[in-house]
Amino acid sequence: MYKDFEKVLVSKEQLAKRISELASELDKEYNGKNPLFIGILKGSVFFTADLLKALTIPCQMEFMAVSSYGKETKSNGEVKLIKDLSVPIEGRHVIIVEDIVDSGNTLSYLKRILLQRNPASIKIITLLDKPDRRKVDLKVEYIGFTIPDEFVVGYGLDYDEDYRTFDEVYILKREVYEK
Ligand code: PRP
Repeated sequence: MYKDFEKVLVSKEQLAKRISELASELDKEYNGKNPLFIGILKGSVFFTADLLKALTIPCQMEFMAVSSYGKETKSNGEVKLIKDLSVPIEGRHVIIVEDIVDSGNTLSYLKRILLQRNPASIKIITLLDKPDRRKVDLKVEYIGFTIPDEFVVGYGLDYDEDYRTFDEVYILKREVYEK
């Protein structure tokens, strides 16, 4: 394991097993609906790819990017749209794919703007959920793992853009982000 990590929180095997379970649920729920999955850059790229490869039904994949106006304002729920969709979603069954739900501000904002475009339905899937940190009321239909309030990286998740490409979810050593 890389020196900056305290321990593995979610292993490769646990990821693969849970992703395959989630894919089976989505296969059933969205059969015949040609759903549109929207991955939120950049954290969700690996989860989105692995989840959609595990599906057996046809679907489509798009990406959006958002960013906070800064750490402090993010806690006030301010989110900025960096990259919008290039396709309409009216009448489509949409699933937003996230790596982690923390305060819930990002998804609450995204859901609100996407609902204005009249999709047939809109649901959320996240690999990780940190319910202890929630600041807004948000319904998350599919959750991979509920985790404690620890600083996690890997499998798409970063600290200052580092560690995204490691293939498990790790707890970052305190000394790395407290120095
Ligand atoms: C992370 C994550 C969510 C958001 C969750 O993204 O991917 O989008 O934060 O936090 P919230 O529930 O408090 O809004 P980040 O802004 O770190 O961008 P990234 O995906 O590019 O790492």
